[in-house]
Amino acid sequence: MMRIESWIIITTICATLFQSFLTAKSVPEAHKIINLPGQPHVSFHQYAGHVTIDEKQQKALFYYFVEAETKVASKPLVLWLTGGPGCSSIGSGALMENGPFRPSGDILIRNEYSWNKEANMLYLESPAGVGFSYHANKSSYNSVNDEITARDNLAFLKSWFTIFPEYKKRDFFITGGSYAGHYVPQLAQLILQSNMRFNLKGIAIGNPLLEFNTDFNSRAEYWWSHGLISDSTYEGFTSLCNFSQIFRSQSIQNVPLSPVCSKVATEYSREVTKFIDIYDVTLDVCLPSIVSQSKMLNKLVNLELTLHDKWNIDVCEEEEITKYLNRKDVQVALNAKLIGVSRWNMCSDVINYELQNLEVPTIHLLGMLAKSGIRVLVYSGDQDSVIPLIGTRKLVYELAREVGLKITVPYRPWFEGKTDSWFGHKFTETFYLLPPLEELGMEFHLHSQRGHLSCLRDFYQESRYQKHSFELS
Ligand SMILES: *[C@@H]1O[C@H](CO)[C@@H](O)[C@H](O)[C@H]1NC(C)=O
Ligand SMILES: *[C@@H]1O[C@H](CO)[C@@H](O)[C@H](O)[C@H]1NC(C)=O
Repeated sequence: MMRIESWIIITTICATLFQSFLTAKSVPEAHKIINLPGQPHVSFHQYAGHVTIDEKQQKALFYYFVEAETKVASKPLVLWLTGGPGCSSIGSGALMENGPFRPSGDILIRNEYSWNKEANMLYLESPAGVGFSYHANKSSYNSVNDEITARDNLAFLKSWFTIFPEYKKRDFFITGGSYAGHYVPQLAQLILQSNMRFNLKGIAIGNPLLEFNTDFNSRAEYWWSHGLISDSTYEGFTSLCNFSQIFRSQSIQNVPLSPVCSKVATEYSREVTKFIDIYDVTLDVCLPSIVSQSKMLNKLVNLELTLHDKWNIDVCEEEEITKYLNRKDVQVALNAKLIGVSRWNMCSDVINYELQNLEVPTIHLLGMLAKSGIRVLVYSGDQDSVIPLIGTRKLVYELAREVGLKITVPYRPWFEGKTDSWFGHKFTETFYLLPPLEELGMEFHLHSQRGHLSCLRDFYQESRYQKHSFELS
């Protein structure tokens, strides 16, 4: 089996290289970025612009595309989708987490661990109404859901591949975190159903929302095991009123909490004060540690919003990015237009996302994808208490049991840069669970970037998953 896979990978790489020799570079010069204001000199190409997905309705999605730093033609194409729902992949994905630059005052500084060291990175602002993406018919913003998001993302990809035909046959991966636990597998499923596979090879999702009850109820154990709440409050969450109930009442159904739930919620709020960063419990507050997509998920709970006062604290990095993307010269350089909104926002304040969608489980899509030969990587950072690893790990093991995935590589430590001590669990051929490592936090842009980058590289190449049957480079 190992041997066969190796051949497939070798064949694919040869085909990719061969193709790159044949294809004359046909790039959309109009979308080419000459220079982003304040950026250092770089040798890779960048593109950005709107791609119309519905001519009649004047609906267009905005993308930012960064070619790989080296060996462009042999590196995969990776689409990054930020979750939210409704947050920007360019703001919180490219400029905060894994793109080549980060705003600092008036200039952009290099991100040493940018994912474009390993891939050609495509950042998409989606659905329409997020960032620079728009729909001229604004009444469509009143009701946006997962189905619309996935459909529009697919329509975008179809058009994008006609603009960049040389990427059509390239190994293609879809990645994202948090609420992208919905976006990513749903788009992958639609791609498979549409008979337009492109060259979809895999998906990778970090601290993903996969199943409402399990994910949100795991917060209690997480808080308790990290010393954030008392035994009695934990007891309250487990025996009186679980967190998913509180979340559902407050954010989805908009009904008042029952007295007993209210009591648990109050206890919790008193203990987990605003001095704890729930997105990275190991950090001090007011560090640029907030990934906005997870922030949105949490914003939905009024209780935490008001009692934590998070919004007034965690502004550092987000503010820099918002300022940068609202500069006129930056928008001109990006070929960006603001349509129907007066400014660019990290998370949309014009769309009304149907929050019942949060309760739609996506865990089973992962099983379906794995069975269809799509590589699935689920990874969790240990600092994130918004979608804690405890729930994710439980869901992944349950799924593996249900669909009959066997463990082929045992749980093991992970050392960056070593070929044999790799990581956690590999299930039959296509399904991976990365163990919770402090190194792989939600806040990749801080102390965890390096580990994350090499983890992704190995995932694209699949070489280390096979215990270095061969090395690609
Ligand atoms: C605008 O969108 C709404 C809601 O999706 C739809 O009902 C309406 O027909 C659209 N208007 C036009 C002019 O297409
Ligand atoms: C959460 O509480 C509700 C109401 O008591 C219950 O129906 C549900 O099963 C609980 N969920 C979990 C995962 O324990």
